[in-house]
Amino acid sequence: MVNKEHPKVEDQAHIRTREKPDVQGDAHPKQLLRTIIEDGDNLLPLEHQHILHADQFSAETLLQLFRLAAKYEANPERFSTPLQGKILVSAFYEPSTRTRLSFESAWHRLGGDIMSITDRSTTGIAKGESLADVGEMFNNYADCVVLRDTRQESLMEMRESLRIPIINAGNGLDEHPTQAMADLYTIFKWRPELIKKSLPKDERVSIGIIGVPDKMRTVRSLLKIFSIFPHAFSHVYLFNEEADEANEELIQSFRDRGLNVVQAGSKFDKHVSNLDVVYINAIAWTGDDFETFGTNFVLNKDTPFKEDAIVLHPLARGHELSTDLDDTRFNWYFAQARGAVFLRMALLTCLVHRKGRVLDVV
Ligand code: CP
Repeated sequence: MVNKEHPKVEDQAHIRTREKPDVQGDAHPKQLLRTIIEDGDNLLPLEHQHILHADQFSAETLLQLFRLAAKYEANPERFSTPLQGKILVSAFYEPSTRTRLSFESAWHRLGGDIMSITDRSTTGIAKGESLADVGEMFNNYADCVVLRDTRQESLMEMRESLRIPIINAGNGLDEHPTQAMADLYTIFKWRPELIKKSLPKDERVSIGIIGVPDKMRTVRSLLKIFSIFPHAFSHVYLFNEEADEANEELIQSFRDRGLNVVQAGSKFDKHVSNLDVVYINAIAWTGDDFETFGTNFVLNKDTPFKEDAIVLHPLARGHELSTDLDDTRFNWYFAQARGAVFLRMALLTCLVHRKGRVLDVV
């Protein structure tokens, strides 16, 4: 009889040698690293800062952050102690796979210690304690807080009393700034020349975003961070079936910053073969539950992508992103999730004043 819990020795060998989809290796981070000249001064605005919005930093600061992330990604074994002696509070009051675990992985990889809270009912909040009072206590216990909360206001309520940096890891419907940083880091690794302000128009890329900026914090934060680098994008097409007046006002604010946003409604089929990047998301959190949007948009191996297009998705995915794309060249969503660890390593290093331990020139 076959023992399912204990596979035979030859099966275990197969497990060890099984090939995984390439998550784009280290050539891309190395290329980005070579493209951006190190300038540690531009990382100073990150020191001891709260990370609240995707558009709060300059292009120069973000590029240096991406450079440090690329340095970590290109040399994953080289830096193991920059956060030694530092403590992180990881407070997630809404479900998360990637954000919580990648922040915690980032902190661990750099040698720091973590206190993790995944249920607010295990803290004084269950007894009516305010977030401001909880924040006051965190000042005594840690050097940095990462907070995800179902309520948009929670971030500001906790920030009120904090003297250590807080990172917004998703606040209700509002924003998810470090996801947007990781998304743009992925795009710049894929095409490092996009960082150039003087990029000729015919070398800019066309991106299609399937999602609803009003209702999805990932999409709103993505557009905000794109608007810091408008010269990288010839067009930003928005595909959804939810366009409304509020949406138009938000879109205009991005256009005012130079981003060529085109509301393309449901006409994805018309544009897909000209898109260099296709970004898709279908889920929006609404308090303690989630809504699904754009059920008519599905990406799979039959989608007529441009030859060298890439597909991004913040994940978790639903039926909008078929698993039959996982083993294709279009799959950059796994690289996007992997790169987020290194992006967060870079951000955390700067927030807690440890960049001096990892930069070549300080
Ligand atoms: N991308 C993202 O925010 O995923 P999680 O909800 O799993 O953290």
